[in-house]
Amino acid sequence: MIGEKFIKESSIKIDLKIEPLKFQKTLKKTKLVSPITEDFFIDLISKRRSIREYTGEPLSLEQLSFLLYSASSISGERMGQKLRTYPSAGAKYPIDIYTAVFDVENLEKGLYKYNDTKFQLELLSKGDFRDELYEICIEQEFIKRASVLIILVARSLRSTYRYGERGFRYVLMDASYISSNIYLAATYLNLGSCAIGAFADEAFNNFLNIKGNETFVVLAHSVGIPNKK
Ligand SMILES: Cc1cc2nc3c(=O)[nH]c(=O)nc-3n(C[C@H](O)[C@H](O)[C@H](O)COP(=O)(O)O)c2cc1C
Repeated sequence: MIGEKFIKESSIKIDLKIEPLKFQKTLKKTKLVSPITEDFFIDLISKRRSIREYTGEPLSLEQLSFLLYSASSISGERMGQKLRTYPSAGAKYPIDIYTAVFDVENLEKGLYKYNDTKFQLELLSKGDFRDELYEICIEQEFIKRASVLIILVARSLRSTYRYGERGFRYVLMDASYISSNIYLAATYLNLGSCAIGAFADEAFNNFLNIKGNETFVVLAHSVGIPNKK
């Protein structure tokens, strides 16, 4: 099995003499204290859903800025090292964020690289790439009515040069923290978002002019104005 091989090769091997715990049956059950339903945080995480129905209306630049700020931005510093809004193994931050803008007020349609250090979008290629990305994401209909597609690209060497094979585990986890931030920010803004892991890898990497071995698309996120009908 691929999983088994991967886990084995990326394991930290230390010979420890620790006996496995014995638990054949539950010894005791403890009811947890129910979280307060009016709590802002509990409300936010409970409301979060993958939303795939969009009106096709544009996002405002403020909304996109808020999403990207939440996804990844500089939020602190420790011993001269910049820290971001998402946790990252060893603070290696091996994820680059691209944004395909389909419809955002006061922003040209095109493919942008998001520079989280300078908090700016850098236009790489002008155009409406909705059709290409719809095809790449194996024709998932909702992409056609999204306003943007946020694309997470793993730069795995940033992690594997330090952690070897194990670094791959961390890269995937780091991407999912960014994804979580996007989901929650979209929920907070009453926008709709959906993680997209189903796509044609080679086509996606080619489209972004990335090599696809150490650097590869790991996840995308559609965001749009939710169609509440
Ligand atoms: C890694 C990952 C990949 C996903 N890929 C897709 C996808 O390609 N298309 C899609 O419609 N939903 C995708 N989803 C969304 C899941 O279908 C969704 O999270 C799940 O059904 C639970 O629903 P909820 O997010 O509304 O709670 C993905 C979610 C994750 C975490």
